[in-house]
Amino acid sequence: MKILVLDGVKEAGVAALRRPGWQVEVISERWSEAELISRIGDYDALIVRSATKVTAPVIEAARSLKVIGRAGVGVDNIDLEAATRRGIVVVNAPDGNTIAAAEHSLALMLALARNIPQGDAGLKQGRWERKHLVGVELKQKTLGILGLGRIGSAVARRAQAFDMICLGYDPYISAEQADRLGVELVPLKTLLERSDFLTIHMPLTNDTRHLLDAKALALMKPGVRIINVARGGLIDEAALAEALKTGRIAGAAVDVFEEEPAISSPLLDCPNVVLTPHLGASTEEAQLHVAVDVAEAIANFLAGGLPNNAVNMATIAPEIMEKLAPYVELAEKLGSFLAQMAGGIGRLRVTYSGALVDLQTGPITTSVLKGLLERIVDDHVNLVNADYLAKRRGIKVETVHRGNGDDYHNRIGVEAETAEGLVTVAGSVFQPDSPRIVEINGYRVDAVPTGHMLVAPHQDRPGIIGKVGTLMGQAGINIATMQVGRKTQGGQAVMVLGTDAPLSPDLLDAICQIEGIQGAKQVVLAR
Ligand code: NAD
Ligand code: MLT
Repeated sequence: MKILVLDGVKEAGVAALRRPGWQVEVISERWSEAELISRIGDYDALIVRSATKVTAPVIEAARSLKVIGRAGVGVDNIDLEAATRRGIVVVNAPDGNTIAAAEHSLALMLALARNIPQGDAGLKQGRWERKHLVGVELKQKTLGILGLGRIGSAVARRAQAFDMICLGYDPYISAEQADRLGVELVPLKTLLERSDFLTIHMPLTNDTRHLLDAKALALMKPGVRIINVARGGLIDEAALAEALKTGRIAGAAVDVFEEEPAISSPLLDCPNVVLTPHLGASTEEAQLHVAVDVAEAIANFLAGGLPNNAVNMATIAPEIMEKLAPYVELAEKLGSFLAQMAGGIGRLRVTYSGALVDLQTGPITTSVLKGLLERIVDDHVNLVNADYLAKRRGIKVETVHRGNGDDYHNRIGVEAETAEGLVTVAGSVFQPDSPRIVEINGYRVDAVPTGHMLVAPHQDRPGIIGKVGTLMGQAGINIATMQVGRKTQGGQAVMVLGTDAPLSPDLLDAICQIEGIQGAKQVVLAR
């Protein structure tokens, strides 16, 4: 394995990646996009902080890349869509720098409230300025917190130690969660109108870009102080600079900028600002934590495990994943089975019943898609891009949890609308961890889904199975297992034969010619 570590990610943190046969290259200088494109070709993993932009052209050039690790929270420097399309997992390290960013927010709030940078600079220039540098106290001031996730919550707890009154705006958390934090959850407008201090802790997305624009700033209480340790684009910097110059906003403390390095930000010219060069996560502790977290996630993934903290696929706790593993394996085979039974799949319905009803079935559904798509698309399909690729092909997926509607302890039923009509297959995991196909097109069977299988719908009358056996024997094909499912005697039936070798197209054709056989198919499943 070849692992490339950029952006000054702490060397000590990536120890987990130093394994026999794994080559870790820690690069200290900054690489341009062109340089990265020309060098990324044979790396299996890439670790970055926020400086390197992992763009779509970089991802396209990364022919061996399996995983990108972001030593930090924000993944806005990584083209997630391009990574997902290529089946590359993106993992981040969301917890390691929470305290550092929360403490930096408080440090900036205090510096802003008490004019600490101005006092320091003046004194160093020989001025003993006291009159102009009278500050304000935090006690009993209202702090508006935009985004009550990890950092927003940590800031709320610390602000309460200063006796501040906390308001929060976060559409994705409940009033109970906010209540437990001692934060009053309010609409955005109320928060803007009531806050004496406002601190931002949400991600930068298309919805949140310029959330604080000129209009929002105009709604704020005159004399408010704003702190931003989240992302630059959340505030319209030009509008903020304007409001600072008019004095409507009393001050701003900013760690993150629309363009970084922020050498031409309009905020640089404002007198009442405290600026730091994206130092929120820059503590010894945080940098070690994020490097360790991301390296461990990558090591686990490259060694065959499921990634922790993946941002472009569902993250499932290892103990839950262990429970799901036999169903994931069965689901992949059911998907592959369907793809080989019929083409032109437009809609899939995956029905879970029995013990599966209470499980987190997302990865099982994705595995059905993986098995199916591996048979029909050129792309490398994995659990990261299977949902995306299905959507791209216009396959609509529905999942149903049905309770105990049949005789199986657990059952995955997959129904596909195909060019050849409705095709169904169902499977169950028998004890101990033994997968079975238990139904094909409504006929009950008990087939081990492995190797070469012949699936032949036929009329249930004497002689047909014998003729199939004779043709197989003449072709030197040994039948290892055999199952017949029928609903009524003399009606329709399906036979499922497990064979020790593949059937030639001529043999399959000859079987299809047997009177009473209604279109036999050969299905090959992983052993
Ligand atoms: P988080 O995911 O734990 O929390 C983000 C919160 O924002 C969530 O609770 C979410 O519900 C909320 N949110 C999302 N959209 C929202 C919207 N439209 N309005 C209001 N709330 C919304 O993330 P976190 O770890 O707390 O990080 C917060 C931000 O801080 C991120 O942008 C991250 O990149 C940034 N960060 C910066 C530094 C730094 O060095 N300056 C360090 C760490 C994190
Ligand atoms: C983050 O999103 O984690 C931060 O911006 C910290 C960083 O990468 O320096």
